[in-house]
Amino acid sequence: MITRIAFIGFGVVGQGLAEILLEQKTDLKNQFGFEFEVVAIADKMKGSVYAENGLDVQKLLDLVKSTGKIEDYPEGIKGWDSIQTITETNANLIVEVSWTDINTGEPAISHIKTAIGCHKHIVMTNKGPIALAARELLSMAKTNGVEIRFEGTVLSGTPALNLGVNNLASSKITKIAGIVNGTTNYILTEMEKGLTYEVALKQAQDLGYAEADPTADVEGYDALGKIVILTNVVMGGNITKDQVPCQGITKITYQDIKEANKEGKRWKLIAGAELKEDGFVDAYVRPEKIPLDHPLAAVSGPINALTYTTKYLGDVTIVGPGAGREATGYALLTDILDIHRKVSR
Ligand code: HSE
Repeated sequence: MITRIAFIGFGVVGQGLAEILLEQKTDLKNQFGFEFEVVAIADKMKGSVYAENGLDVQKLLDLVKSTGKIEDYPEGIKGWDSIQTITETNANLIVEVSWTDINTGEPAISHIKTAIGCHKHIVMTNKGPIALAARELLSMAKTNGVEIRFEGTVLSGTPALNLGVNNLASSKITKIAGIVNGTTNYILTEMEKGLTYEVALKQAQDLGYAEADPTADVEGYDALGKIVILTNVVMGGNITKDQVPCQGITKITYQDIKEANKEGKRWKLIAGAELKEDGFVDAYVRPEKIPLDHPLAAVSGPINALTYTTKYLGDVTIVGPGAGREATGYALLTDILDIHRKVSR
């Protein structure tokens, strides 16, 4: 069966996936029996296009670079909004990569509910819906026989969620802690090398690490969304973001960084969650001074790291890219292949 893909959103992450799909088209067919067509793209800024027999992905990527307008594509139906693209195209897989709103989860939650209603599978990297409504969405999907995957919501393509949910299933995870935001880790690393906060942030934006509104990164809200996802999806918790104390990196100065270095330490933005004896989970996001000989102190730039503390294995740590065009695009590919494996069985 051919997977017919519709992209909802076509920014850095969507384009990252499109490039990987193009590059791997033959290998995906030969190695995994996975065949696809991209039939539609709907992006709030770049416009939309739909062609039931498939679009030329390279042409679309070129258009985004040259005119920034998907609607300049020479054929197909234009002007459909995201909801119409989900409901009226022949796509059977929705790639939800619209912008993240960690407060409302919209418009992504509506996109996902619409796709579930149409029995279309969904992959996403958008943290809003899973941080705010994981239980509801997963239960709706199950009722409707729809597969939802969201590996890229935490540590981008580094398989932190799969590790926690699948590989460490029943390992009795009592604690999760680590560096889960690439932008702030990049900024702190660059500030230590002497760059100003503003220049380091600008670089993180140019490199595609930061959220559309980077306040979410620097004030800790992105890390907050991720620790809520980890708590609820991996630890089976049921917390909301309002229950989690959250502090970002905006108050950390160059002076603070230098002083920490003198003490043999390094500032890192840490997100954590710990299971208490009463069965509840305490979660937090805050900058911490980490001793230089601690493994997290060596995790630099956009690299993230997460340690699961388990009963049977002790600490299990995963380290890898936490943000970026290709790393996050790849997360979507792993989700797509996982769904393909499941539905083509
Ligand atoms: N803005 C996020 C980060 C992107 O910097 O980690 C990946 O979730």
